[in-house]
Formats: sequence, C-alpha cells, structure tokens
Amino acid sequence: MRAAITLLVLLFSMCGAQTRSTQTEVQTESQSTGAAADDDDAAAAEVSTQLDIYAELRALRDMVEEQGDMLVEQQTTLRSTQDELKKMEAENAAVKERLVASETKVGALERGLVASETKVGALETVNDAQEAELKAMATRLAVSETEVANLRKENTAQQTQLTNIKTEVMNLINANAAQDSRISASEAEVENLKIVQEAELTAVKTRLAVTEMEVQNLEKKITETPKVAFSAGLTNSGYIQSGNTELNLVFTKVITNVGQAYSSTTGFFTAPVRGVYYFRFTVMDYPSSAYAHIKIFRNVKQVMLLADYESQGHLYLSGGVALQLEVGDVVNLRLPAGCRLLDDSNNHSTFSGFLLFPL
Ligand SMILES: *[C@@H]1O[C@H](CO)[C@@H](O)[C@H](O)[C@H]1NC(C)=O
Repeated sequence: MRAAITLLVLLFSMCGAQTRSTQTEVQTESQSTGAAADDDDAAAAEVSTQLDIYAELRALRDMVEEQGDMLVEQQTTLRSTQDELKKMEAENAAVKERLVASETKVGALERGLVASETKVGALETVNDAQEAELKAMATRLAVSETEVANLRKENTAQQTQLTNIKTEVMNLINANAAQDSRISASEAEVENLKIVQEAELTAVKTRLAVTEMEVQNLEKKITETPKVAFSAGLTNSGYIQSGNTELNLVFTKVITNVGQAYSSTTGFFTAPVRGVYYFRFTVMDYPSSAYAHIKIFRNVKQVMLLADYESQGHLYLSGGVALQLEVGDVVNLRLPAGCRLLDDSNNHSTFSGFLLFPL
C-alpha cells in the first residue's frame, strides 16, 4: 500500500514539473527508489522555487491524507467485499449442492433420455414401417388415381352413351306417342267400323231371316210342288193303224210315271198343277209306203204336226214342245187317218213329259 502511494506522489510531481517547465528535486520518503536521481539540475533550483515546492508538498501531504482516507474507505470496502465473498462462497456451496442435485437430476434425465431414445428408435422403426406403408399406399393411391381417371373417362363415355340412349328413348317416346295417336285413330276407326259392321250385320241378319223365310217357303213350295215325269213305249204288238179316222195314241208300256199324271189306259197326260211342262216324242214306221204323220194336242187344240216320207228303210219322227197348262189340262199324241206306226219290244216309239216349273 505504501509503495502505491509513493508511486502516486512521484507521478504527481512529474506532472507538476512538466507544467512549470522547471527541474525540481523532490525529497520524499521514497528517495530510495531513485526515481528522482536523474535530475542533476535540481540542486540549482532557486529559493523562490523552493517555496512553491513546499506548497506543493503540502498539497501532496493533503492528497496523501486524502488517499489515506480513501484507503481506509477502501479497506472498509474490502472488508465488506470479503464479507460478500464469504457470502458468495456460501452461495457457491449452495449452488454446488444444487449443481450436484441438478447433476443427479441430469443423470436421471439422461437415463430418461436413453429410454426416450430407445422409444424414439422403436418409434423410428414404426415410422419406417409406416413410411413403407405410406409408400405402398402412395403407389396404391397412384394406381387408384389412374383407375379414377380411367373411370372418369368411362364415365364420360357412359354419359355420352346415356345422352344417346336418352335421345333414342325420347325418339321412341315420340314414336310411341305417334303410334298411340295412330292406334287411337285406328281404334276410333275400328269403333266406327264396328258400328257400321253391326249395322250391316243387323241388316244381313234381317236379310238372312228373310232369306231363311224364303228358303223355308221355297222348301215348302218344292215339297208341296208335285213331282211329275213320265215316259212310255207305244206297244209290243207291231203296227198301229188309224184307218179312216184320227186315232188317239195310247202308249201302253210305262217306263217312268212319277206323279201318275200320265194314264197308260187312255194315253192322256193330265196337268196336276198350273205350270209349264215339256213334252217330247219319237215314233217310227217301216218300211214307209205313205206319209208318216204325228200330232200333239193340248186339250182339243192341235199344237204340232210332223210328217215324213221314206220309200225304203226306217222312218223316225221326233219333236218336243213346252206347254203352259192349267190344272186339269190334258195333252196327248194323235195319229191322223190313213197313217200307221210301228213299235216292238225295242221301244222305237215313245212319249215323254215332265213339269218344268209350276206357275
Ligand atoms: C222297253 O220298255 C219296256 C218297259 O219299260 C222295258 O221293259 C224294255 O226293256 C224296253 N226295251 C228295250 C229294248 O229297252
């Protein structure tokens, strides 16, 4: 401490010498240091200057006293600092204890950390597995996205098809509506046709009933109409001669006589109903030596006369006539006077007749 103060004084005096631009030799308790030994000119200093030096010395002494006070203060401060240092040491010991405790804790934490690291390792393994799964899922996702894209394309195509189908369906609906209209029109026509046909059917039924009635009447008429037809041969006994008078021929060989209107006894046909009758005949002569004649009569009135002449061979006369007769009218054949006819089992001469229709 004392050395420090001496150093301070020396520094101060050096500063004062430079200020006054003079060489001053300072006599202090620190002459042993030899700090002022260099100043060989100090001996030559003037008396006035020495007065100043005393003044400066006093000032220095004051300063030294101030420094001593400061030193005391510093010692006080030092003691307090030492106290503080002790406190700090105590605190340091406490801190050390806390440090040990903290280190213990850190040890525990480290063990926990190791355990955590183990867990982290396990978790990383899990994480790796999950990453692998994630990659697989990403791959599958890519595939799925491709599929989704394809499905979208298909969907678009299907929507187009759907639109086409809708259009077709609409066309079909329209066509169906048109067909419905036509069907309705056709049904109306059918209804009209039914009405017309029913009317026609009614008319036809009426006509059928009338026709059936007519048929019944005709059947009745036919049933009621007599069936009249006859044919008869003249004779088996050769020549028939009239002599001097006209002879009424009797065809005695009945071939047919439905209705019994012809009499093989008298040779007369008698009309059973009013109507039109047809008569015909064939007569023969052989060998002809004269004119052959034949007449047909309705009642007393002659209707026809046929004649022929042949000098050799057979002679045939044939004829026919339709006659309208009233009930009871008679028809027969006559041989004029002086004539003859020939017949035998061959039936060369025949007389036939039948009812054409009643009137
Ligand atoms: C002529 O008529 C009679 C009587 O009907 C008949 O029996 C006979 O066989 C007929 N003769 C000939 C040749 O057909």
